[in-house]
Amino acid sequence: MKKFNIAVLKGDGIGPEVIDASLQILNKVEKLTDVKFDFVESDIGASSIDKHGVPLTDETLEVCRNSDAILFGAIGDPKYDNSPDLSIRPEQGLLKLRKELGLFANIRPVEAYDTLLSKSPLKEEIIKGVDLVIFRELTGGIYFGEKGYKVDGTAYDHCEYSVIEIDRILHLAFKAAEKRRKKLTLVDKANVLETSRLWRKRAKELAGMYSDVELDFLFVDNAAMQVILNPGQFDVIVTENMFGDIISDEASVIAGSIGLLASISIGDSSALFEPIHGSFPEAKGKNIANPIASILSCAMLLEHLGLRNEANWIRMAVNTSFEQGVVTKEISNDSSYGTCEVADFISKQLEINVLMQS
Ligand code: IPM
Ligand code: MG
Repeated sequence: MKKFNIAVLKGDGIGPEVIDASLQILNKVEKLTDVKFDFVESDIGASSIDKHGVPLTDETLEVCRNSDAILFGAIGDPKYDNSPDLSIRPEQGLLKLRKELGLFANIRPVEAYDTLLSKSPLKEEIIKGVDLVIFRELTGGIYFGEKGYKVDGTAYDHCEYSVIEIDRILHLAFKAAEKRRKKLTLVDKANVLETSRLWRKRAKELAGMYSDVELDFLFVDNAAMQVILNPGQFDVIVTENMFGDIISDEASVIAGSIGLLASISIGDSSALFEPIHGSFPEAKGKNIANPIASILSCAMLLEHLGLRNEANWIRMAVNTSFEQGVVTKEISNDSSYGTCEVADFISKQLEINVLMQS
């Protein structure tokens, strides 16, 4: 029997609902195989502030450190969004978790599913066949630089990048490109920012080690346009923290919904799996949240643990849900399926896929 410790951080808003859907799928995997998961739940975000006064406790950090993988829902609560003076905020929990666990690379695949082409607001001929992956640096840049106020009331956020921080994610992105269509695009703002010029310099220098990868560069403003105009030109995109945050939300339009995009954040020893969408508080408790981004994050989790077949069963089941129109309303307006129905369908379909293989 293969046994794994999984830290489960449901978080806020729709986080608990999409994670419950994911646990249903992972429980089904347990039932159908000799894999066993030991799930340990812990608090994070606004729900942790409500209970413990802080968005990330030492206990949650410990649970994560002791896990083989972390399953993460979402964080954020509107009661904090419009109160800029609050010093304790839910997002700090996620940022601290990323920093403490050294999760420096966030990998976000974006695929245009044939069965959903007509659901994207973009034209079918533009998105057909798109299959790209964004490598977003996750523990540096303006997110983590010195921030504060000067005596005259001016606010500041500093952006810094060291060579080590840049090189380690560039290596990962080059290696991924080597295994894919061998094209790497660095998205930066090297015409203005010193940090971007360092990214470019390092990328050019490392390119020599990956001679079969074609490296090109795009300024982030142009990249934002190209992602919508001609996404098929991209294979692997690598970029710094803030640009990656923005470009990946934008790129989710290609897939048809931000509710479909999964991600893995990795560092030297930990791995965290999360949908790229946020806590979507307006949808909380209404059974309308799309669980697929989280379920596909579970597929990434299984693959990370070496369970490739199991990961593929999930992906196949998700594809069948698209084919049969078992999707939530934000994808198909006339759909009558909610979070639970989509999860039930995928869970049943997973079982069918396994039985058909054996
Ligand atoms: C993301 C989110 C987070 C980020 C927020 C919740 C802090 O938008 O994971 O993309 O900005 O990194
Ligand atoms: Mg984001």
